[in-house]
Amino acid sequence: MKRINVGIIGTGWCGGIRANTCANSALVDELHIAEINQQRLDEVTKQTGPKTATTDYKELLANDAIDAFMISATPEVTHFPMALDCLKAGKHVFLEKPISLTLKEADELVDLARDNNLKFTIGYSQRFNPKFAFVKKSLNDGTLGEPVSALISRHISRNLGNKISGRIKLSPAAMEATHDLDFALWCMEPAKPIRVYAQAVNKVMRPTHGVEDCMWIIVTMDDGTVLTVGAGWIMPPAYPNFSTTTIEFVGSKGALMIDDSHKDVMLTTMDGGIVHPMSTMPGEQVEHVFAGPMHAETIHFLEAVTYDRPVMVTPEQARKVMEVYMAADLSAERNEPVPLPMNARDISEAAPV
Ligand SMILES: NC(=O)c1ccc[n+]([C@@H]2O[C@H](COP(=O)([O-])OP(=O)(O)OC[C@H]3O[C@@H](n4cnc5c(N)ncnc54)[C@H](O)[C@@H]3O)[C@@H](O)[C@H]2O)c1
Repeated sequence: MKRINVGIIGTGWCGGIRANTCANSALVDELHIAEINQQRLDEVTKQTGPKTATTDYKELLANDAIDAFMISATPEVTHFPMALDCLKAGKHVFLEKPISLTLKEADELVDLARDNNLKFTIGYSQRFNPKFAFVKKSLNDGTLGEPVSALISRHISRNLGNKISGRIKLSPAAMEATHDLDFALWCMEPAKPIRVYAQAVNKVMRPTHGVEDCMWIIVTMDDGTVLTVGAGWIMPPAYPNFSTTTIEFVGSKGALMIDDSHKDVMLTTMDGGIVHPMSTMPGEQVEHVFAGPMHAETIHFLEAVTYDRPVMVTPEQARKVMEVYMAADLSAERNEPVPLPMNARDISEAAPV
């Protein structure tokens, strides 16, 4: 059986999940991990028994035996240089979102991967959430008819909002709504986004973290469809990294309402009060099963590399999503709609995300 050797750069929360998935997959021969936090490196080494474990990812880059890298490091300024290094070294790359901080950087990565025939994909994990996949299926098989509108509302808890904005000033559009923008744009293909209007609220996080509390984004497509995506990160701290999402897709022949609010499992204890296990966006290992999309997403990438299959999330799609959330940031700042594709002036005025 064909097997591949995989390197993981950054084995924190997500990278830890990816390393564990790789360690337990029959597709992976050698696992190599790089993590600058020695304590975390030791922890994940103990869990996954990698062939090599280092604090310097460049050591892994020099290893010709490694076929593919998964980049799960933070802060997000690391994404572009790490992906560039890996692609230049001729490795296939799975990169957590965001793809980069500027469209120019994203273009460079997209071109490099295409010119060198390398797999390159971005971690839009919610595409691997079965509820989300059901929306895609219902559109593809005609159950809903012609798409008319989509509404997705996502809120995550403040502990995660604090974690993210403690390391980088990226908006909820760039860091949270991005998942749902990716999903909705993918569902609406081949329609293309032509205009974005967004509003931001700045009551809680601005003074302490310099970021918005939530953003609401309306995207108009070239077939007249309208997508509305809202995302925020100020819910009171809850089960580690609790997230709640509601979805509504309306078409000419039907409508689909989905509750992904993660309130279906309630655990209450004398010590911890009420919590909702299995309620994070990536999901978590529960004994012998993984509850959430990140495991399936990781396996998908391993299969794409091993069997030379196409990746689910193309870098071109991720680049388009980036353009939409950059336009959303700009729209909220200017308080006016931003046409797409963004013109040169808008691109230069959009803050790096
Ligand atoms: N798909 C999803 O559902 C999802 C959920 C959360 C986060 N994310 C994305 O995944 C990425 C990782 O998020 P996280 O919550 O796991 O972050 P994290 O902070 O828990 O982990 C990142 C790790 O990278 C390590 N690191 C930093 N610089 C490094 C370097 N030079 N070499 C090796 N390791 C290095 C850090 O020490 C840390 O352990 C983020 O960019 C985020 O946008 C995706």
